[in-house]
Amino acid sequence: MNSSTMQRLLDACERDRSLHEPARLRQRIEMLDRLDDALLDAHDRAEDGQVRCRAKAIYDGLDAINRRIYQQIRREIQQGRGADELLKWASGGSASCDQQSGQGYDYLDALLSGVLAFEAPAEGIAALAPEMVFYQPTPARHIFDAVRRLSLSGSDVLMDLGSGLGHVPLLAAICAKAYCVGIELETAYVACARQCAQALNLANASFIHQDVRSADFSSGTVFYLYTPFIGMMLRSVLQRLAKEVAQRPIRLCTLGPCTSVVANETWLTPIGSVHVDRISVFSSNYAA
Ligand SMILES: C[S@@+](CC[C@H](N)C(=O)[O-])C[C@H]1O[C@@H](n2cnc3c(N)ncnc32)[C@H](O)[C@@H]1O
Repeated sequence: MNSSTMQRLLDACERDRSLHEPARLRQRIEMLDRLDDALLDAHDRAEDGQVRCRAKAIYDGLDAINRRIYQQIRREIQQGRGADELLKWASGGSASCDQQSGQGYDYLDALLSGVLAFEAPAEGIAALAPEMVFYQPTPARHIFDAVRRLSLSGSDVLMDLGSGLGHVPLLAAICAKAYCVGIELETAYVACARQCAQALNLANASFIHQDVRSADFSSGTVFYLYTPFIGMMLRSVLQRLAKEVAQRPIRLCTLGPCTSVVANETWLTPIGSVHVDRISVFSSNYAA
């Protein structure tokens, strides 16, 4: 972005007072993104300090409004009233999953990140073994979609296999009465997820530091996989899940390339359409 484009952006921000209306969260988040890019460019170009200060002041003003909203949502969650409050903000002008599949991020991720307010993970993330997939959070719009489509009840236990920082169990625990468990190999991610659950008073979310291959699945009724592993590792975990079906019906919910592998499992039936780039849900159809 050159200097005059940046000036025009700043002029537009200052003119558009609607950006200060609390309800215009999405527009503010999108503007903050543009201002962030502009500030980075200005830094690279060694832009005049006055312009940078002006951009920073506009950024901080808009950011402060969002922070107040995130704090308000956090307070509601802490008092057990988070679902309505969060869903109210998330549905305001959201690009629904029908409009936007794929694995990119949007303003809902900024909303979720502001609400969950994770501490930065400790340094020294361990390298993963072959077939394990590096950490990348499920885009928030897909988590909202999964929560809606799964209609989790108080008797459900959702297990996120390879839960990273815990976005899925945390959001599901806020929005539903189900007990939500994250299983993750990386200690630093588990510590952040636990800290977040505690700060939000989420008694129905917990995080286990373990390799999914040796985890106890016996309490799970719904298993979520955002392609945490591939190849033989995925196959062996699916075999273990198939054995659970002898005890009780289960559902699997997937996103990403693991979906096509899961779709080929003969003990599962898709509920609705199957898409690699969207949430797919499968139900066990007979005892394996
Ligand atoms: C693509 S990320 C998904 C993160 C999370 N489920 C989400 O959707 O936001 C995959 C995660 O699985 C973890 N992982 C990979 N293999 C694992 C294993 N065998 N046991 C536990 N965690 C594993 C990785 O460390 C990473 O955090």
